[in-house]
Amino acid sequence: MNHERSRELYDRALSVLPGGVNSSVRATMPHPFFVERGDGGHVIDADGNRYVDWVMGYGPLLYGHDLPEPVSAAIQSHVAAGPMYGAPTEVEVEHAEFLARHVPSVEMTRFVNSGTEATVSAVRLARGHTGRDKIVVMQGGYHGAQESTLVAGEAGDAHPSTPGIPEAFAEHTLPVPFNDPEAVTEVFEEHGDDIAAVLVEPILANKGIVLPVDGYHETLRDLCDDNGALLIFDEVITGFRVGGLGCAQGKFGVTPDVTTFGKIVGGGFPVGAIGGRADVIEEFTPSGDVFQSGTFSGHPVTMAAGLETLRYAAENDVYEHVNRLGEKLREGISEICADRAPEYTVVGTDSLFKTIFTREGPRNLEGQCSGGCRQDPDCPRYDYCPKNGADVANAETDRWERVFWQEMKERGVFLTANQFESQFVSYAHTEADVEETLAAYEASL
Ligand SMILES: Cc1ncc(COP(=O)(O)O)c(C=O)c1O
Repeated sequence: MNHERSRELYDRALSVLPGGVNSSVRATMPHPFFVERGDGGHVIDADGNRYVDWVMGYGPLLYGHDLPEPVSAAIQSHVAAGPMYGAPTEVEVEHAEFLARHVPSVEMTRFVNSGTEATVSAVRLARGHTGRDKIVVMQGGYHGAQESTLVAGEAGDAHPSTPGIPEAFAEHTLPVPFNDPEAVTEVFEEHGDDIAAVLVEPILANKGIVLPVDGYHETLRDLCDDNGALLIFDEVITGFRVGGLGCAQGKFGVTPDVTTFGKIVGGGFPVGAIGGRADVIEEFTPSGDVFQSGTFSGHPVTMAAGLETLRYAAENDVYEHVNRLGEKLREGISEICADRAPEYTVVGTDSLFKTIFTREGPRNLEGQCSGGCRQDPDCPRYDYCPKNGADVANAETDRWERVFWQEMKERGVFLTANQFESQFVSYAHTEADVEETLAAYEASL
């Protein structure tokens, strides 16, 4: 493959954009390819190379790069009407009504402009609602670029994970290992009266994809109830991706007090949302006292894109299609791994998939979870499969980034650039895309 034009563009970008990009994860080695356009389930780069795209904008693009006609028409008509006003519009109400109808925890919604803004606002809301400062988060969980959650370490010994954040923020954050009911119970025993909320991705989707072990979310729900804290599910990735229109909370049957959304809920445009019980969400200004505001919040073009995206999914076989291809990919990759790298763990659910380059595995794979790790205690892999962020971080992360990802790219398959981030199937992907991808896995692993 020729990458001359991308290399030149990156050279220019390095002079005017820090690291040559606007989001760190895009700075792949030795240089990223620059995208010229999308086409269904594919992207075409500045040198004319075509890739099967499993990155899908890191999740928002449920339909790939060609929007269904009603979605496209709604966007065009809102653009034509003038993009925004600083006054309310009907489409915001319709979108909030849709969320309230479909997502178990949602009665009311505040729309914002990014997943980060949603989690920042949700944490402020929980603190305002409870009058407490501390939040429990999962080690290896990701909630965007916010001061309270960019922390590393353990409960009682947490520190900012990046320069620029005062230690005081980390003092109020209690990180615990995902899937460890004892650890979170101990933290509640020690700090229960000070905890405003548990903030958790229902599936660790930014750390390899780790599903909850049986009963974990129920434990979190009980601890929050018993201690007067809020349970916040961060469904920025899983929302309308896992569990269809009911989201991961519907799939797992655990209802949080507050849910944060992003990505799909804006149909490919910048978005975030905080939904939940009416008595909690109404504490946002102007109905309540917890300040929350934004020039672009509830942007009509975004609202139209998000709402029509979800309506189309409600009326067509979208989730059947993406989940079926997701299963096919996970099954196919499992077979290839069994042959080439039996220690690797294939993970994911619904339309999410990834392979964690775990270093050890069982000798006999007979009876292992089919179609990706489901944290089934009867699976021979159970004692080896990652249960939390640290387990994923112990995988061969360099191999993914420096060898495997590059090889897949050269074979025309675009995967997320590091070991940790999920990959996404879209409605535009085809059986042929799956076959091409599996052949590339076979050649690259
Ligand atoms: C679970 C989760 N929460 C929050 C965010 C932040 O969203 P955004 O990048 O839109 O700010 C992300 C981004 O990937 C995410 O995966």
